[in-house]
Amino acid sequence: EGLEIVKEKTQDASTEKHVPFVEEKEDGYLVKVGKEMAHPMTEEHYIQMIEICVDDFLYRKYLKPGEAPEAYFKVPKGKSVCAREYCNIHGLWSN
Ligand SMILES: [Fe+2]
Repeated sequence: EGLEIVKEKTQDASTEKHVPFVEEKEDGYLVKVGKEMAHPMTEEHYIQMIEICVDDFLYRKYLKPGEAPEAYFKVPKGKSVCAREYCNIHGLWSN
């Protein structure tokens, strides 16, 4: 009671600025929100966290207004990779 199940969204009809985009790098993964256009990072509207799941591991970075809407995860590579982010206004998104 008092808890709400947050359902993740995967498609942004307008500009795709919420769907996290994963770039594989030499020693980890860079996750950006979003691909073509960066999501705002103002006090009123910003990405609160970005997380990446690599096989059986989950890594999370919390962000503050004013920072870039991206996170670099220097972690071992895996076979299956997915990413999620949480926008304070538009909710949870995954790729
Ligand atoms: Fe948003």
